[in-house]
Amino acid sequence: MPIDDLAYLFHHVPAVIAHRGASRRAPENTLEAFRLALELGAHAIELDVMLSRDRVPVVIHDTRLERTTDGTGQVHEHTWAELGDLDAGSKFSAAFRGARIPHLEHVLEEIGRRAWINIELKNYATRGDGLEQVVVDLVARMGLGRKVLLSSFNPLSLGRAARLAPQVARGLLTMPAMPVFLREGWLAFVAKPHSYNLHLDQTNVRSVRAARARGARVCAWTVNDPTDAVRIAAQGVDGIITDVPDVILAALTRNPQRG
Ligand code: G3P
Ligand code: MG
Repeated sequence: MPIDDLAYLFHHVPAVIAHRGASRRAPENTLEAFRLALELGAHAIELDVMLSRDRVPVVIHDTRLERTTDGTGQVHEHTWAELGDLDAGSKFSAAFRGARIPHLEHVLEEIGRRAWINIELKNYATRGDGLEQVVVDLVARMGLGRKVLLSSFNPLSLGRAARLAPQVARGLLTMPAMPVFLREGWLAFVAKPHSYNLHLDQTNVRSVRAARARGARVCAWTVNDPTDAVRIAAQGVDGIITDVPDVILAALTRNPQRG
């Protein structure tokens, strides 16, 4: 059975978790997107975090800056002072010009008091950089251990988090494109996940049952079609990670599955 069933996070089931914030309507992984997600009624947000050159945890998805900001090069080659000055809004739309890459602490401070946060540890390209330590230290210092779910595709990263902060919830991400031992969660004994965060294409009655048998929750990503959301809610998923929280919430309200 699980270390904890995460009832303290999942007040609403299925929880609607805004993927990179309300990222269809605002620039992903910015405070603007996180604020909007909560305004739209999301129960939680998902974000991606990696380290700057001076080891500041910054909230951004890509290892490179070009797609979402006016910067160039690798995130980990820049200091926080440099990254914090970039425009992370204009590439999305002119209306968001001046939006910034957030420091994880600023997101935890503002959003962590109002909703729970799925923090994806995005150090796949820089394994062994100590990101897990930096994040669990920050979460502990802010007293938010029961407001976060640490997630990763890398079970070894979650294993490190488990050793550093066993009480902080962990979500093991999987997707069909991974090698079978990762896709099927064969290293789950290292990660000891409280939740399996499955790609939508892996989400079905059988995978939900398998996670339950391991005493874990199930979240599915990235679910942007209301029909998919209603179907997997009926299959018993606990969380729906989506770019369009308002659309998914409306669909679930129209088609209530569970009380
Ligand atoms: O948490 C699910 C999802 O965020 C994983 O993929 O690439 O969007 O970070 P990605
Ligand atoms: Mg992510």
